[in-house]
Amino acid sequence: MRVLFVASEAAPFAKTGGLADVAGALPGALSRLGCDVTLVTPAYRDVFAKGLGIDDTGLSFEVPLGGRRLTARILRSTLPGTDVPVFLIANEGCFDRPTLYGGTEDYADNAERFIFFSRAALELAGRQDRPVDILHCHDWQAGLVPAYRKLVYHAWPMLSQARSVMTIHNMAYQGLFWHWDMLLTGFDWKHFNWQQMEFYGQLGFLKTGLVFADAITTVSPTYAREIQHAPGGCGLEGVLAARGDALSGIVNGIDTTVWNPRTDRHIPRTYGPDDVAEGKFAARVALAARLGRAAPDPRPLVALVGRLVEQKGIELVIEMLGRVAGQGRARFVILGTGSAETEEALRRVAASYPDAIEVVIGFDEEFAHLIFAAADIVLVPSRYEPCGLTQLYAQRYGAIPVVRATGGLVDTVIDATQASLAAGTASGFVFEAFDSFALEHAIDRALGVRSDEGLWSRLVRQVMAQDWSWDTSARAYLDLFERVRRADPVAVA
Ligand code: ADP
Ligand code: GLC
Repeated sequence: MRVLFVASEAAPFAKTGGLADVAGALPGALSRLGCDVTLVTPAYRDVFAKGLGIDDTGLSFEVPLGGRRLTARILRSTLPGTDVPVFLIANEGCFDRPTLYGGTEDYADNAERFIFFSRAALELAGRQDRPVDILHCHDWQAGLVPAYRKLVYHAWPMLSQARSVMTIHNMAYQGLFWHWDMLLTGFDWKHFNWQQMEFYGQLGFLKTGLVFADAITTVSPTYAREIQHAPGGCGLEGVLAARGDALSGIVNGIDTTVWNPRTDRHIPRTYGPDDVAEGKFAARVALAARLGRAAPDPRPLVALVGRLVEQKGIELVIEMLGRVAGQGRARFVILGTGSAETEEALRRVAASYPDAIEVVIGFDEEFAHLIFAAADIVLVPSRYEPCGLTQLYAQRYGAIPVVRATGGLVDTVIDATQASLAAGTASGFVFEAFDSFALEHAIDRALGVRSDEGLWSRLVRQVMAQDWSWDTSARAYLDLFERVRRADPVAVA
């Protein structure tokens, strides 16, 4: 089974969120199951700053873009810890920029950049010496790949048998562009219709992927159900419901080589379930030093690591902090970047309670590891969450997640009740309503259990013993790939 993995970010090369974690780990897991996987991703400026070995293959070719042609230079590396080849598509005009997608505003030419990337990925696969079986396309940035395969590259020998699988990591980011960008794609205008590429007058990259792919997946079974209705489908619920038979949810795993408190190089003392208390204490000493404090705070540490955007329920956190931070029952640490208003609102509430709240604005991978190691409780109060990875990292590091019952959080956290605690199945605290009082109540329940040392340490050990490695989910992808390969491709008009 030959799989071409097309993703706009992949750890450790470039990362803005969980997609990078998935694209950095799933190819290796598939390869361990015997798949022949190649990853294709853009050569952003960022990828050269990571100390990864990147070579020039010497291969370059021209990619049509509207009336122009842009040169794609092909660089090569390997996914660390695996033998998965990584091809990086280089073009300075497109990718040699300070950030991946833009700053507060997206780059104005993102349509052009990812049309180029998608076509370059296919042109590269078409020039290899072995045929591709599965094009595994991720998010809107690779959304045009299934359509290019069917409409433009279907006769290329290395691509003629390929089936495409479109994986949705987030319905809220759809890659919607000006209709005139159709001219850059090279697709016939006849496809600019409401059943194919058009979405309320715009060109929809993700929609195109959903229509043209042979199968669709998303990153948890619950999210797969949620997106077939409003508001989860973000306007594409009709398209998804119509393709319900082709849609499935496979929960994300985690890279257990990167996220492992036993071997983590970013924490001061590695630990496992038996010495979690010592490991966490050392991490808290290091965290205090990092935050400019002489000694760690003895109170329970409640943390949040994530993008500070509407999706993540930060408004609930700000409201909750305004009420509970003054009570002195816990200390809060927040690491993230997001909209200027959210960052400012968090800074303001932190300034009111300097002894209880620490807000660190920035994207800092190493610091995230230290926080998961130091924390007792990790908050994921999302408005919606396709899968979510921080609750899984928290669990692996013996921090108990407090999550809202949505999307993948439902599939990965079992609420601690008297019964589930007794049965040994509890793995966090879950609340339903998108409401800061519901969040506060769940934190209260967690702090209540935390005050019973025996009960808490049993819960922590239990949670750390769970297996969130990619093995099971990679097998589910492989089964899907096998089925898709055997089935007839989805016909397009
Ligand atoms: P999403 O992809 O929606 O952002 P996930 O929970 O799937 O959410 O993945 C987020 C990933 O990004 C995790 O690896 C998390 O640790 C990381 N992350 C998010 N914000 C930061 C930050 N400010 N610093 C370091 N890592 C971060
Ligand atoms: C998205 C989602 C997140 C998911 C990640 C990886 O960014 O917001 O829930 O875990 O993709 O699939």
